[in-house]
Amino acid sequence: MKNLEELIKSADTLKTLEEARIEIFGKKGILAAEFVKMKSVPNEEKKAFAQNLNIQKTKLTELFEQRKETLEESALEALMQKSAIDVTLFNGVNESGALHPVMETMNKIIDYFVSMNFSIQEGPMVEDDFHNFEALNLPKHHPARDMQDTFYMNDGTVLRTHTSPVQIRTMMQSKPPIRMISPGTVFRRDFDLTHTPMFHQVEGLVVDDADKVSFAHLKFILEDFLHYMFGDVEVRFRPSFFPFTEPSTEVDISCIFCKGSGCRVCSKTGWLEVLGSGMVDPNVFKAVGYENVSGYAFGLGVERFAMLLHEIPDLRSLFEGDMRLLEQFR
Ligand code: PHE
Repeated sequence: MKNLEELIKSADTLKTLEEARIEIFGKKGILAAEFVKMKSVPNEEKKAFAQNLNIQKTKLTELFEQRKETLEESALEALMQKSAIDVTLFNGVNESGALHPVMETMNKIIDYFVSMNFSIQEGPMVEDDFHNFEALNLPKHHPARDMQDTFYMNDGTVLRTHTSPVQIRTMMQSKPPIRMISPGTVFRRDFDLTHTPMFHQVEGLVVDDADKVSFAHLKFILEDFLHYMFGDVEVRFRPSFFPFTEPSTEVDISCIFCKGSGCRVCSKTGWLEVLGSGMVDPNVFKAVGYENVSGYAFGLGVERFAMLLHEIPDLRSLFEGDMRLLEQFR
């Protein structure tokens, strides 16, 4: 049986070991043949013959199991060597990511209002007619509802065209006093140098007892906010119109590029329009069931702020993912 031990020991792959197993332990193998021989062994020797054979078989089986384990281990080892990735290896590149300029600007805006005790509210991007238009005093014939501007869904809902519906949702879910901002994504059918179909706004709303909120509060907070964002600029309030505010005002800052003397960016006016705002229209309060309150609201486009802060000439470049632009914000 010595040569059978050799056969197992010399198997150097799982395949040759399996061949040896069949040769030794198989139905027609060497051990089976030995047991057959037992028939011709004289009766008085049978017991010793069988005992010896069983001892040999046990020994060979143990040897086989050991060999199998060893070969399986080295096969696994070889596989790991072949497919190994050393995650601790230095790849020669040491780069960090950065926030996208729109998100960085968004965070800066949010930081200001959170420091002024505004809460952050969110609403759905797919809105119904009531929240996006009707409750905001946008009657059915209003031009802002034109197919030109709004993405209509088949079921009569829309992709929200501004963050103002969050004003309505917040007022209907809670009671005054309210002091909130709502940062978020909005959608309009528009695409040129200064418009993309998706962009970001930050909405603001403050509501309290009628004698507690005035235009002076709106003026203070927006002036302070714009100085925080743009530094030492002049701020101008210009009469305007929004269906959901009365009076309404658009807010300009003196051009940060030419300091007000007139350039290409400000179209030679010396001023840059940065915000829409006003005192909440009584019809809006009526729609949400509020009485004896006063409030102001504002809305701004985050991309516009990012473009001004970083002197980015084309709004569309913010969404092209061009590394040459993005790497500058690391
Ligand atoms: N929702 C207006 C817009 O998208 C901005 C705005 C918000 C104006 C709140 C006044 C008050 O243009």
